[in-house]
Amino acid sequence: MNILGIETSCDETAVAIVRDGRHVLKSAVASQMEIHSPFKGVVPELASRAHVERLNPLLEKVLGAGGHRSIDAIAVTTGPGLIGCLLVGTVTAQTLGWSWDLPVVGVNHLEGHLFAGLVEHHGLKPPFLGLIVSGGHTELVIFQGYGRYKRLGATRDDAAGEAFDKVANLLGLPFPGGPAIDRAARRGNRNAVVFPRAWILGTHDFSFSGLKTSVSNYVRFGNGTKRAKKEDIAASFQESVVDVLVKKTIDAAQAHQMKSIVVGGGVAANSRLRQRFLEAAQKHHVKIYLPDLKFCTDNAAMIAAAGYYKLRHARSKDIRVSANLPIESWSLAHAH
Ligand code: KG4
Ligand code: ZN
Repeated sequence: MNILGIETSCDETAVAIVRDGRHVLKSAVASQMEIHSPFKGVVPELASRAHVERLNPLLEKVLGAGGHRSIDAIAVTTGPGLIGCLLVGTVTAQTLGWSWDLPVVGVNHLEGHLFAGLVEHHGLKPPFLGLIVSGGHTELVIFQGYGRYKRLGATRDDAAGEAFDKVANLLGLPFPGGPAIDRAARRGNRNAVVFPRAWILGTHDFSFSGLKTSVSNYVRFGNGTKRAKKEDIAASFQESVVDVLVKKTIDAAQAHQMKSIVVGGGVAANSRLRQRFLEAAQKHHVKIYLPDLKFCTDNAAMIAAAGYYKLRHARSKDIRVSANLPIESWSLAHAH
């Protein structure tokens, strides 16, 4: 079964075709980086306008000469995200569904980031522990079955990606900050500055705003001795985020007897986080599934993958958009 996925929740316009929820036949992403980078953040109105301009050409490119002949259903992101942006995707999906006489299913962007772990990892089956680390979210979720989630914890303030973006801005690095810090940190000393780690013991929650304040204070005032260089601050900050994400995720896996872990979302593209997760997985005898880099940041293959399972198992195909859509279990059409 071939699902056409459409993703327009934030600043990437993305279209993909995925077979049986696992095999990516096509995937294309049109980035809006050049539009938003002068503002050092995503400007919602500019983003929705750019989606309007880019979505149809991208659909034509991905569908190619065969058009929609090989497509069996359409999956589209309904939230969380920017309302105007989400509407461009859902209205397009609905229109195509009507004119091609195909079912349309709405997908939660956050669960999409977890389904990215299933893409091209054919051996991975639930249950597993999922860590979602994106620009807007940091969540630990037990993926008990397709569409059956148990939320263990989340950030109490900034998301991990948000911390990367804000700290990059403090350091005068370009937007988006995550990749810029990742690059700068490779030339830095991660032990140069000891930044705080918020463990929030006894919970599976996270907090990154204190760390961001600490970096801001360091950049402004130093700590009395000689000031570390930009690359050292980037590497030290990154190490603090990575320490917390890896340790708390491994702890949660052990506490809930999870043998597999999926890490999804833009921050899962971070090279140091990937390296540390691979090391920790070996040490603690768990399997770690890291999506290919292009499926960590926003893409439509993950939406098509989630859509495939949702069409098979969920009762509802709701495509109403919502800016704040929590990750929620599906009401199942039948037990699986
Ligand atoms: O999942 P995503 O593409 O969009 C959202 O759903 O938010 O995540 C974007 C976030 C941004 O904060 C970006 O700075 C961060 O992911 N990011 C990274 C890296 N690549 C993207 N953070 C750290 N290291 C990276 N290599
Ligand atoms: Zn995302």
